[in-house]
Amino acid sequence: MKTSAFLKKYYIDRSNAQSTKWARGRKMNCLPMWVADMDFRCDERVSKALKDFIAAGDYGYTNLPEDYYQVFISWHEKRNHVHYQQDWIRFTRGAVNAMYQAVHSLTEEKDAIMINTPLYPPFKATIERCGRKVVESPLKYENGYFTFDYKDIEKKFKTKNVKMLMLCSPHNPLGRVWKKGELEELFELCSRYSVLVLSDEVHSDIIMPDQDFVSALSLKKYQKQTVSIIAASKSFSLAVFSHCHVVIPGKKLRDRFIRYQQENNTASANAFNALPTYYNYIYGEEWLDAVNNVIFDNYHYLKQKLGDYMEMTNLEGSYLLFLNLGSYNTCKSAADCLVEECHILANPGESFGKGYENWVRLNLATSPDNVKTAVDSILKLIRTKKK
Ligand SMILES: Cc1ncc(COP(=O)(O)O)c(C=O)c1O
Repeated sequence: MKTSAFLKKYYIDRSNAQSTKWARGRKMNCLPMWVADMDFRCDERVSKALKDFIAAGDYGYTNLPEDYYQVFISWHEKRNHVHYQQDWIRFTRGAVNAMYQAVHSLTEEKDAIMINTPLYPPFKATIERCGRKVVESPLKYENGYFTFDYKDIEKKFKTKNVKMLMLCSPHNPLGRVWKKGELEELFELCSRYSVLVLSDEVHSDIIMPDQDFVSALSLKKYQKQTVSIIAASKSFSLAVFSHCHVVIPGKKLRDRFIRYQQENNTASANAFNALPTYYNYIYGEEWLDAVNNVIFDNYHYLKQKLGDYMEMTNLEGSYLLFLNLGSYNTCKSAADCLVEECHILANPGESFGKGYENWVRLNLATSPDNVKTAVDSILKLIRTKKK
């Protein structure tokens, strides 16, 4: 589908909607480019299937569609070249809930868990809430590119008795799509030091055209030490449904996870919340490809206009761009500067890690018009500061 046709049909003006992102924008008189959801409505066949379900009025106990698992498995086989077995799949109420349940069930109190910063804040918060210890291994930043610091990781595996590594793949907020070689080197270290990998892959359907997503479980050698968190919530903007999968090939780990779910009464999927995922996997591929194109175009436009003035991550996946305002930042935090000077609401860099006060995370899953508005106001800020 052509981008212009897609935007005409699917862009939603959410400025007066109940949307979390836009409600805060309204309150602060800002263009909201924070929270990670999209300003696009679902594919029309998905909306119709959901309307039909609602219209039928049958709201009793309901099973998942009979071919739910097959549809899920086929999607990931086709898009990500990874094969999941039905009995590996468990359900949770969203991805953060999945992290919480995995950390609780697969590690012990006070265990050390590694994260690679800067990183989406709920990773750290989950470790802390579960009474585990956070071990940070900051990503190395070289020539505009973030990557793992294997020496630091190994040193901390050796000295801090790390039991789990929580990986964000693709990475939020850096938009990195980890290369196969990077993951192999990382997983080899994890294997050597008996560290479990919990890989959050909720951004894996938003991959820029020159990139290949490598799912953690496609590296078969490491499957038994790896658990993946998989959802359609970012791919198709389904956050309100809180439906997520945890895929666990290793029987021992899976049994621990299932026991935890049974003890905490969290074992079953909510069939209504699962329907949007199911219908999108059936009908949504063309829509998703069009969304990927819109994001890629938005990114290129922004980079072309602002790239000479400030550093930004090379967007490989997700729709989240990490941008360094550098000397144009006139406040303690670049996010405050964007609110005050540009009327843009972004996520503050410092919420992802120490030392990122000059950075912001911008959400590009919106219309090119909104991105242009944001770019124009940042250019105005640049011009003012240059005087
Ligand atoms: C990497 C990652 N994991 C989890 C989430 C949250 O997912 P959920 O709303 O399903 O808890 C987000 C949201 O932005 C995310 O970026």
